[in-house]
Amino acid sequence: MSQPHRTLVTGGTGTLGQTLVPRLQEAGHTVRATSRSARSGDDVEWAQMDLADGTGIRDAVAGVDVIIHTASDPLGDTEAVDIEGTKRLLDAAAEAGVSNFVYISIVGIENIPYSYYEAELEAERAIESSDVPSTILRATQFHPFVDEMLGMVTRLPVWLLPTEMRIQPVDTGVVADRLVELATTEASGRPDPVGGPEVRTVGDLATAYREARGSWRPVVRLPIPTATFARFREGAATCPDHAVGSVTWEEWLETEYGAR
Ligand SMILES: NC(=O)c1ccc[n+]([C@@H]2O[C@H](COP(=O)([O-])OP(=O)(O)OC[C@H]3O[C@@H](n4cnc5c(N)ncnc54)[C@H](OP(=O)(O)O)[C@@H]3O)[C@@H](O)[C@H]2O)c1
Repeated sequence: MSQPHRTLVTGGTGTLGQTLVPRLQEAGHTVRATSRSARSGDDVEWAQMDLADGTGIRDAVAGVDVIIHTASDPLGDTEAVDIEGTKRLLDAAAEAGVSNFVYISIVGIENIPYSYYEAELEAERAIESSDVPSTILRATQFHPFVDEMLGMVTRLPVWLLPTEMRIQPVDTGVVADRLVELATTEASGRPDPVGGPEVRTVGDLATAYREARGSWRPVVRLPIPTATFARFREGAATCPDHAVGSVTWEEWLETEYGAR
């Protein structure tokens, strides 16, 4: 497998970016990582870049062979960052002669009506219609994301949750490892998605989470009668045929919060 000389990780400060950068370095890549803030250290060359207005994109991309695009702003201006920002990054990648534009996307986005997912889908389309050779890897929800979502209800006396929603939490390290494998100078198109070892309901995940956090507050079903949640209930965000990760939710909770 040919190793690229230099790899750019957009969103180097994110959940995935932070896990990915050291793994790429271990695999022999010279890594440049981006953030909107000025940063230094970690044996990484940091580039300041903002996808929303294009600041720093050209400089960030100059001289790299591979881009792994993990920067995203799900709660912000997804149009400016995830769609237009990705297009700006693609333009710079084309100009710089990048050999492989690797994008991390989400399983099931074409079947779940949700504005952030629509933005990711639009970004996928822009990538595939660009002249830059690309690789689009889809993954299920990362453990820290599920933790963050469930963390939002911990202060409530009753944990009201869409308990029937089905997801397949995956270890961020497993996704990062797959991205390292795909970060060659040869693009892979649409490799198989990456999912965690088990498809679980949110109610079931919340019960394990409650135990790990030492709480006994009741987990109560919150009916959300929207098409979005119906699709989640049906398992549209899962890929049981590609359950490649081995770390279960309980194992991750134990590492994160310790055995109780
Ligand atoms: N989280 C999940 O469960 C999950 C599952 C499957 C796929 N994915 C996909 O994986 C990718 C990474 O997810 P994540 O959870 O690692 O995200 P994250 O932790 O929210 O990190 C987002 C990153 O994007 C950067 N960023 C935000 N706005 C930006 C802007 N305007 N310009 C440039 N950079 C910007 C942030 O950097 P600064 O703040 O330092 O600028 C940060 O490093 C996303 O595309 C997501 O859809 C996530």
